[in-house]
Amino acid sequence: MTKWLSWGVTATLLIATLSGIIISYPYHEEHPLISTVGIETVVPFGDFFRALHYFSGQLTLLLLWMHTVEALIKRRAQSRPWWSWSILILSLPAILFILFTGYVIRDDETGFSAGRIAEHLALSIPWVGKYMNHLFFLVSQDGVHRPWLIHVYLTGLVLGGTGLWHFRLRLLSLLDLGCWATICTALSLVWPASLVAPQETTLVKGPWFFLGVQELLRYLPPFWAGIAYPSLPVVCLFGYYWRPRLATLSLLLWALSYGIFLLMGACR
Ligand code: HEM
Repeated sequence: MTKWLSWGVTATLLIATLSGIIISYPYHEEHPLISTVGIETVVPFGDFFRALHYFSGQLTLLLLWMHTVEALIKRRAQSRPWWSWSILILSLPAILFILFTGYVIRDDETGFSAGRIAEHLALSIPWVGKYMNHLFFLVSQDGVHRPWLIHVYLTGLVLGGTGLWHFRLRLLSLLDLGCWATICTALSLVWPASLVAPQETTLVKGPWFFLGVQELLRYLPPFWAGIAYPSLPVVCLFGYYWRPRLATLSLLLWALSYGIFLLMGACR
């Protein structure tokens, strides 16, 4: 199971990166929405590669999440050096951020609003918010330029940190890559990647994993709903190395509460 999940994460991450490189040729960050629509409608096989990129990205997140849960259940943290555990934990928010910036740079209704909300959340961080916004978003002044750079650079960082680690362990074979490529291809042939036209809806929903935060923003100030609360699982996962019981309980409570907010957000 462990190897199967590790292979899955590395393979889908590779497929997401390769398909990302393919769709980056017709993509121009100065005209993000026009580019995305062009990839979907004009570029030969563009809709297929867009869907391949989309589904391999979603699968990377899903498998990485399962990989982490499995490591928790099998109490693998204590048997690993702390830096190896830290790489696993840090790769979760990193992949989430790559996915999130992916939605932002497609610049449709979902991505546009996600970018604006993220900018608002970054600015809510005390003292350093302005700098964080300049570093990661600044979408209201500079379009998707910064999210685009983060999307690509962070991919390189994650591939370097986790992918190479798995290659070193010889955890990825061509057969595994082939299996995951087949699964991603099948998904892409059956379902298209979503694209929400501007003004199509009155209630704009962000990426699916962000819906819980969007819901929480109705009840809590931006910093608590969008920064402090979503950071809790990362803190707990680090804490798991020293206080496994307390960390597991906190993680379960967090997952339960986020699941409820996510459902509430999805049902709106
Ligand atoms: C060098 C690496 C990468 C490049 C050049 C790249 C390029 C792109 C481009 C041009 C778009 C916008 C066009 C579109 O939405 O169709 C995009 C969107 C996206 N990217 Fe990437 N990407 C890379 C890596 C990744 C990785 C590693 C992931 C996930 C693990 C990912 C997940 C996404 C997602 C979820 C979207 C939104 C897709 C959609 O809904 O259309 N990307 N990427």
